[in-house]
Amino acid sequence: THQWRGIIEEYRDRLPVTDTTPVVTLREGGTPLVPAQVLSERTGCEVHLKVEGANPTGSFKDRGMTMAITRAKEEGAQAVICASTGNTSASAAAYAVRAGMVCAVLVPQGKIALGKMGQALVYGSKILQVDGNFDDCLNLARSLSENYPVALVNSVNPYRIEGQKTASFEIVDALDDAPDIHVLPVGNAGNITAYWKGYKEYAADGMSSRTPRMWGFQASGSAPIVRGEVVKDPSTIATAIRIGNPASWTQALAARDESGGFIDEVTDREILRAYRLLASQEGVFVEPASAASVAGLLKAAEQGKVDPGQKIVCTVTGNGLKDPDWAVAGAPQPVTVPVDAAAAAERLGLA
Ligand code: F0G
Repeated sequence: THQWRGIIEEYRDRLPVTDTTPVVTLREGGTPLVPAQVLSERTGCEVHLKVEGANPTGSFKDRGMTMAITRAKEEGAQAVICASTGNTSASAAAYAVRAGMVCAVLVPQGKIALGKMGQALVYGSKILQVDGNFDDCLNLARSLSENYPVALVNSVNPYRIEGQKTASFEIVDALDDAPDIHVLPVGNAGNITAYWKGYKEYAADGMSSRTPRMWGFQASGSAPIVRGEVVKDPSTIATAIRIGNPASWTQALAARDESGGFIDEVTDREILRAYRLLASQEGVFVEPASAASVAGLLKAAEQGKVDPGQKIVCTVTGNGLKDPDWAVAGAPQPVTVPVDAAAAAERLGLA
């Protein structure tokens, strides 16, 4: 008779809410931590996948959005706005519906996955395609929120980070301690910031005996943190992390350095290889950006940076159904058969 109540109710004492806060939730969080058998064999470690595609709108953004929209509602906002490569907008749009608010969305024209566009539309947000990239969209959203009555719900909103830090709590609760290493894709760098905050808070309160090393991976064509400079025209097939000037850049460097971790890059080819491995070997279908964490782990293992026997968690951030083009592209077309068991059996190699 009990179901998961959403991250605010489950972690109420660790989040900025009071008894009178009007909680806006779709019962996000409580996502599966799945043992990854093939990745464990390949690395000689105990690897787990934190499957954030299992959230209500199919990505980790819901953890941050329940918190950001809840606080916007409490403060009397009637409209919210975000810039997005697709997942933030899908999440903001859904939680705005729950809150009875208007949601405005700015996305880079032609550069978001179809499933995410469909979500923003069906949830009824006001969507503008901007003739620019994500970084342009974020600048525009910031300026609109400063000059018009609309609350910004990108991860520069501190409540987003508060909500997203709960993923670390769930991992420690499930493993009975923090892992040795935590691996994440990095785009605007809000999530690595949030996880690090969550791990630090839990350790400080004695809920874990340690904090993990934080390993972040950007796509090679969109790797400003790795390069140490803004990327003017970012590119990658992983459109979710096609970002040239991350808003939480400084915080990502702090997470890296305080934890003794690193931030590196993976190529689109490495991302797609990990994307296919996750689906075909682990049974976990993620969107391309999410596979950057696993691609990074495999790269690090090949470079001899992964000592055997460690506990490793890779966050896979978004559901594969968001961007199915990459599942279909390059795969053989299914054969058509008549309604005939013998013919079907033959094509299936059963006969
Ligand atoms: N993975 C997915 C699926 C994402 O959608 C994002 C970010 C990231 C990873 C990177 O997380 O930005 O916190 O470093 N998506 C944002 C959006 C930018 O608009 O949906 P980050």
